[in-house]
Amino acid sequence: MSPKVIAIDGPAASGKSSTAAAVATRLAWAHLDSGALYRAVTLAALDNVGDARGRGGGGGGGTASERQPPRGVQERRERGEQGGQGGQGEHGDQGQSGERHPWGPQQIVAIAESLPVRLVLVGAAFRPEVAGVDVGEAIRSERVTRRVSEIAALREVRHWVNVQQREAVLRHAGGVVVDGRDIGTVVFPDAPLKVFLTASPEERARRRLAQRGQAIDPTELKREAAALAARDQADSTRAVAPLRAAADAVRLDTTVLSLAEQVNRVVALARERHLG
Ligand code: DC
Repeated sequence: MSPKVIAIDGPAASGKSSTAAAVATRLAWAHLDSGALYRAVTLAALDNVGDARGRGGGGGGGTASERQPPRGVQERRERGEQGGQGGQGEHGDQGQSGERHPWGPQQIVAIAESLPVRLVLVGAAFRPEVAGVDVGEAIRSERVTRRVSEIAALREVRHWVNVQQREAVLRHAGGVVVDGRDIGTVVFPDAPLKVFLTASPEERARRRLAQRGQAIDPTELKREAAALAARDQADSTRAVAPLRAAADAVRLDTTVLSLAEQVNRVVALARERHLG
C-alpha cells in the first residue's frame, strides 16, 4: 500500500518548506521537513563530536549516559527555556566549527540515537528535538547551514534519517506532506504525489534574503546566489541520494509564482489524485 505522503523535493530556497507547510494546512495533513532533521543531527554533531585535535563537543566516544546534550541545549535548559536562538553555542564554537572535523558517520549516528535527535509531532508539524529540547530555531544558524551538506552526504546518516522519517509517517494516522531532496526518489518512492519545485538561482537568493530580513542589494544577491549554487552542487553531485527529480514527479517552476499560487497548484494536484 502506498504511504499517505505528498513528496515535495527541490533545491535550497525553492520554497519547499513554506509550500509543504501551507499544503499540509489546506489538506489538514501533517508537515515533515526532512532538512530540519539533517540540521538537527548537524547541530548535535557540532556540539558533541570533538575535532581532530580532541577539542570541542562532549566526547562522542562515551556511552549514551556520559554524553551531554548540545551546549546550546544545555544552556537553554539551565535557563529554563525551550527552543530559542542558537544560544551560546552559536558564538562559543566559532574558531572550532570553522575548521573541518573528520566526523565519523557511526559516531554521528550514535550521538543522534543517544541524545536523542527526534521528530516530535507538535500540532500538525513534526518538530526537531535534541535531548528533548525543540531546536527549530537553533538549526537555522549559519554555523549549522555551513556544515549540513557534509553531514547529509554520509550514507549512514541518511539511512538513520530515513528510518526516522518513515517511522514518523507510519506512527501518524493521517497524511503527511514531506519535503526534502530525496523524498520522491528514495524515502517514499511510492508516494501517490511527487512534486519537484524549482526557481531561478536569482529568485531563490532573493527569497532567502527576504526570509532573513536582509537588504536585497546586488552584492548580497550575488553572494547568496553563489552560496546556494555551492549547496546545490554539493547536494546534486554527492554519491548517495543526490538531489534530482523522480521520473514521475510533477515539475513546478515557481520563479514567477507567488507562494499562494504554488500552494494552489499543489493542492489542485492532490485533489486530482483524491488526496486530502
Ligand atoms: O532544506 P534544508 O536547507 O533545510 O536542508 C538542509 C540540508 O539537508 C541540505 O544541505 C540538503 C540536505 N537534505 C538532504 O540531503 N535530503 C533531504 N531529504 C533534506 C535535506
